[in-house]
Amino acid sequence: MSELVLGIESSCDETAAAVVRAGREILSSEVVSQAAEHAVYGGVVPELAGRSHLAAILPVVDRALAGAELTLDDLGGIAVTTRPGLIGSLLVGLSTAKALAFTRGLPIVGVHHIEAHVYAAAMELEDAPYPNVSLVVSGGHTALYRAESPLALTLLATTLDDAAGEAFDKVAYLLGLPYPGGPSVSALAEEGDPRAIQFTRYRAKDGKPGFSFSGLKTAVLYHLRGGDARAPTPAPESIPDRADVAASFQEAVVDTLVDNAFRAVHAEGLETLFVVGGVACNRRLREVTARRGTAEGIRTVFPSPAYCTDNAVMIAGLGWQALAAGQAADWSLDASPR
Ligand code: KG4
Ligand code: ZN
Repeated sequence: MSELVLGIESSCDETAAAVVRAGREILSSEVVSQAAEHAVYGGVVPELAGRSHLAAILPVVDRALAGAELTLDDLGGIAVTTRPGLIGSLLVGLSTAKALAFTRGLPIVGVHHIEAHVYAAAMELEDAPYPNVSLVVSGGHTALYRAESPLALTLLATTLDDAAGEAFDKVAYLLGLPYPGGPSVSALAEEGDPRAIQFTRYRAKDGKPGFSFSGLKTAVLYHLRGGDARAPTPAPESIPDRADVAASFQEAVVDTLVDNAFRAVHAEGLETLFVVGGVACNRRLREVTARRGTAEGIRTVFPSPAYCTDNAVMIAGLGWQALAAGQAADWSLDASPR
């Protein structure tokens, strides 16, 4: 069987396709982002996302195959994100994958989006270290896993409310910065003082790893209202310390993420930490994690920024692992929001 796998990703607001050989060698990667379409609404609108995936998916697959100088006949299988995500968006990718696989008699496999984010850190390494603790930080998820192998993850902790990326997106909105909030808030944070405002950090009462970001978002809101919860929210251009707010907010998020991640690594008695997902692009998070890793003798691994945010390389890569493990699906393969 050919070791070439076509990956398809459409769980949120990126339509992506990629070809990867044997789970590691990247032959092509195409990503079409819908961010600009959703920006006016300050977040992803599910109906818009589904329609845009439908328009983009076949051209994106064509470009991924052309980029790898291949046709469908060269493939050994097709991998597609089936969960979690927006159901209408997932179904666009899944039905495309099924149709293509059916016409060529190719095996098809469903991939878990979060497990694929974790695999993105392993795929670029010669000696991917397992078991490890993986911190998944994206627009939709903030969680810690113990990863025994690419296909065996156990959930250790998750967020009680918002995801870290979602907090960045909401604070960006309050500060009048464009969606997605991660890149815009972190760019403004470069000009601010991370110690200017001491936003409180969430810590679980039992001392175990855990996350919560809705209190932080509210703290930012109250700060902008001058400490008076009932005062009106000021217009972004009249906020005098916007850069300091951005930097202090980012520092609070980074502290919480790093603190909990290292606590989990030590509690599991492990020596490796993966940090993956869109928020793993964050320069300050990368810096603080690396420094702490060196100080505590923990190996820290981040994917390249292009493979932190949603992409199909990680889907094709993990899909090959699943196919190699005999986990091909049948035509009843379905999508699920959870
Ligand atoms: O993994 P991803 O592409 O999609 C989901 O699976 O959710 O993550 C997108 C999230 C967005 O919330 C975006 O604001 C955040 O990743 N993000 C960042 C940065 N770049 C992207 N957050 C903080 N700092 C960044 N540099
Ligand atoms: Zn994602």
